[in-house]
Amino acid sequence: MSSGRSAVKEVHQGRQAPLAVTGLQKRYGDVHALRGVDIEIGPGELFGLLGPNGAGKSTFVKLACGLMRPSAGTVTIMGQPAGSVAAQRSIGYLAELFRFPEWCRADELLALHQQLEGSDGGPRERQELLERVGLAKSAQTRVGAMSKGMQQRLGLAQALIGSPRLLLLDEPTSALDPAGRRMVRALMEELRDRGTAVLLNSHLLSEVELVCDRVAIIARGQVVAAGTPQELGRPAGVHVETTSGMRVFPAASREEVPAIVRELVAEGEDVFSVEIRRSTLEDAYLAAVENSGPGVDAAATTPAA
Ligand SMILES: Nc1ncnc2c1ncn2[C@@H]1O[C@H](COP(=O)(O)OP(=O)(O)OP(=O)(O)O)[C@@H](O)[C@H]1O
Ligand SMILES: [Mg+2]
Repeated sequence: MSSGRSAVKEVHQGRQAPLAVTGLQKRYGDVHALRGVDIEIGPGELFGLLGPNGAGKSTFVKLACGLMRPSAGTVTIMGQPAGSVAAQRSIGYLAELFRFPEWCRADELLALHQQLEGSDGGPRERQELLERVGLAKSAQTRVGAMSKGMQQRLGLAQALIGSPRLLLLDEPTSALDPAGRRMVRALMEELRDRGTAVLLNSHLLSEVELVCDRVAIIARGQVVAAGTPQELGRPAGVHVETTSGMRVFPAASREEVPAIVRELVAEGEDVFSVEIRRSTLEDAYLAAVENSGPGVDAAATTPAA
């Protein structure tokens, strides 16, 4: 596992980083929500931001959108300062707690956002996006008549208007059914193929593990671990199913498997299966967050170091 500033920086030579964040800090009065975060996301990269409630994830996304000013540090989108018109043109954003006007029909809402984005995609873009999120038959349905998950799907379609270079999704699957979550995974993989960068905030670790290229775990406003989901996991031993039951070799690695099997067979055991285990992203998350100090209330009020 790697941690700290350098681990979340990658150089994307000759290409503008969709998101480059350096020394980012945010204070809300006494609350020090971000305490110096460095993250760079490359073209086509799916980046997961994880952390406990109150860790600073939504604050990070709002700063990247230019909805607030940082207390210190810089944020650029495709080389342009966050909040500038050029940066706004490059991003799509789905907020954590969004609310669309209840009277607005799905198609109408997308048309409004096309105007705000300056997209000339017209009815075709709207139809394609509604199809993409599974709302093709709901173009004329009012937001107020949609279920929570349908509204979240519409929110995703809205974020995709104008084919942004960077998509910022703050818990986009919290209201989705399993089919909807799978749709979002497929969508993110398509976006990666098109070179779109995605920042995904989520508490669904298994989902992040499945789809994200890189992950940063933040706690109390700081990055406490970062790397690929594979790097964040650790070897967790070898489990061998034998005639006499499951035999566990907690410290063994892949290289030791042939010798383990030979010894078991020599002892007279039949071997039915061998599993080389790694700890999950969930294990890595819990270890990183527990090591980072007290929980959400303390995080909010601890003065800066
Ligand atoms: N507008 C605000 N005014 C004052 N404090 C705020 C404001 N927004 C967030 N905070 C505080 O900043 C800290 C970080 O909040 P943030 O919403 O970024 O967390 P989060 O990681 O997104 O949490 P969650 O997983 O619950 O969505 C928290 O202590 C929160 O109380
Ligand atoms: Mg949040």
